[in-house]
Amino acid sequence: MTNLYLIGFMGSGKSTVGRLLAERIGWSFADTDDEIVRREGMEIPEIFAKGGESFFRDLEQATLLELSGRSGWVIATGGGIVLRGRNVEIMKASGKTVYLSAREEVLAARLVGDPAVRPLLGGDSRIARLHELLQERRGMYEWADLTIDTSDQTAQAVVEAIVNHFG
Ligand code: S3P
Repeated sequence: MTNLYLIGFMGSGKSTVGRLLAERIGWSFADTDDEIVRREGMEIPEIFAKGGESFFRDLEQATLLELSGRSGWVIATGGGIVLRGRNVEIMKASGKTVYLSAREEVLAARLVGDPAVRPLLGGDSRIARLHELLQERRGMYEWADLTIDTSDQTAQAVVEAIVNHFG
């Protein structure tokens, strides 16, 4: 396996688990959102405000393509990475993928307590929007090589489950 990708909805723990996992197995770590912010010199909400979602998705795809050329990286992706079929092909062709899932109420609780601004969740009706987006997207993550429900586990336990699976 060349890289290990983490996919899943916003709040599923991809960045937290990814960082710990990389440390645990001695691989490098990248987060597509962080890469985009670094390259553009703009925060995610500013990128959405400037060019809309399609502009963000173009940057996301270019970032994924670049990262996929590396080897021995744990890569945490944005929750919408699966919206483009080409991204799924890129991940399938360049490593193994783990889907971090979580129950809706768990995601809601994590997102409410998270200071990161997610433009697609909007402001007042965040919980309703979360529900809609989950309905639309749930099935899009299910092609992964491994699925782990993170609802009732610590990030460290999720890391161990991943290590045991691929170990
Ligand atoms: C998005 C998820 C975010 C970020 C952007 C769009 C999405 O990443 O890429 O706000 O469409 O689900 P996280 O999954 O890390 O929150």
